[in-house]
Amino acid sequence: MGFRPRTIIEPFRIKSVEPIRSTTAEHRRAALAAAGHNLFLLHADDVLIDLLTDSGTGAMSSAQWGGMLQGDESYAGSRSFYRLEQAVRQITGLKHVIPTHQGRAAERILFGTVCGPGDVVPNNTHFDTTRANVEFRGAEARDLLIAEGRQPGLYHPFKGNMDLARLEATLAEVGRERIPLCMITVTNNSGGGQPVSMANVRAVSALCHSHGIPLFIDACRFAENAWFIKQREEGYADLTPLLIAQELFSYADGCTMSAKKDGMANIGGFLALNDDAWAQRCKDLLILGEGFPTYGGLAGYDMEAIAIGLGEALEEDYLRYRVRSIEYLGEKLIAAGIPIIQPTGGHAVYLDAGALLPHIPPGQYPAQALCGALYLAAGVRAVEIGSVMFGRPRPDGGEEPASLELVRLAFPRRVYTQSHVDYLAEALEYVAARREQIRGLHMVYQAPTLRHFTARFEPL
Ligand code: F0G
Repeated sequence: MGFRPRTIIEPFRIKSVEPIRSTTAEHRRAALAAAGHNLFLLHADDVLIDLLTDSGTGAMSSAQWGGMLQGDESYAGSRSFYRLEQAVRQITGLKHVIPTHQGRAAERILFGTVCGPGDVVPNNTHFDTTRANVEFRGAEARDLLIAEGRQPGLYHPFKGNMDLARLEATLAEVGRERIPLCMITVTNNSGGGQPVSMANVRAVSALCHSHGIPLFIDACRFAENAWFIKQREEGYADLTPLLIAQELFSYADGCTMSAKKDGMANIGGFLALNDDAWAQRCKDLLILGEGFPTYGGLAGYDMEAIAIGLGEALEEDYLRYRVRSIEYLGEKLIAAGIPIIQPTGGHAVYLDAGALLPHIPPGQYPAQALCGALYLAAGVRAVEIGSVMFGRPRPDGGEEPASLELVRLAFPRRVYTQSHVDYLAEALEYVAARREQIRGLHMVYQAPTLRHFTARFEPL
């Protein structure tokens, strides 16, 4: 008679609530026009459900809030630092733990220390800030994702995997002297939040180490990745996410981390690594830009929140709910015939706007137009990952479009409930049913770099 529920519930109850604001269609139309049809420029108060990012937008637990009162704000030797160091070491086994204010600061310090002009850094797919920090050093950021990872409708259990043959070819072509390190991003955010298999990390590590090249993990969503390994990779079903994460990090020589994701905190990050000489140089740079090595860019209470959050991110009930809530939305959209990247990833659903809006050419930014339509219809904020973000100017004055026109619906951790997701699916069905009415956009302002944050548009 054992009750075996089909419904996977939110594994928490709500102790503190924050109202969200409904607006009229008229109000949203005015707000969108004032924002130049760029959702980054909206006031967050004009948004009902905010899926712009899963970064720093999660809800902390009562244990984390309680822990924050225990934060030790000592400038040097803070007890909270040693708690964070212990939590990171337990999961990663890495020797030196260097706290930073967020992930990109860890990237800047790492690449600022080990990377120079003419170098090449391979990765499955660099996240934008990672790429920018590599390129800022005059080096090349080279993406070596498996071919399956670039086909939205194709099922593959580990679409974030690195292409080993292309990595081998890069090692042979470039040579060890010009590859300071290799990176692997778990999960692969820019490619749809897709996981990397343990076998792939193991093989990449062996290949790199046979050439004397260290492997670093961009660990932002390491816990979600561990959950996918547990679900999909043979031999891992009976292991805890912690044990899986420990094995994954055992193949690496270091990691960068944004604790705004699987650190379950609103701010923070760290760099962790084994090499003593590199760590010393990184700490010197840390002092220059972030702070003393026992707090980096963080308050003592932030380090407490992260130390506790890292453990919570690995809890099975949490991960089951987390990944299921993304999959649940994906199932509804697939049933409604809305094209998405399949299978769904760990932190977001990615809509294939190019396939949904074939009447809008890439030069008229179909994914940006879809973001606007979704906001107008339902007050939902998503983010464009297409030609606004990745389009590149051509010598003839035109523009080279991105390879895919995607809209990312990224879920803050522990924030929205199943009824929010049901509402979202309804809203997307409504918008998709009226797809012909959606018009393209004309870009009227763009900044020279990272234009997607501030670009302005007019409807065509
Ligand atoms: N690496 C990955 C894979 C990321 O997704 C991010 C941030 C970073 C590094 C940088 O971390 O923001 O703490 O400096 N991703 C956020 C997003 C911004 O919306 O996907 P950060």
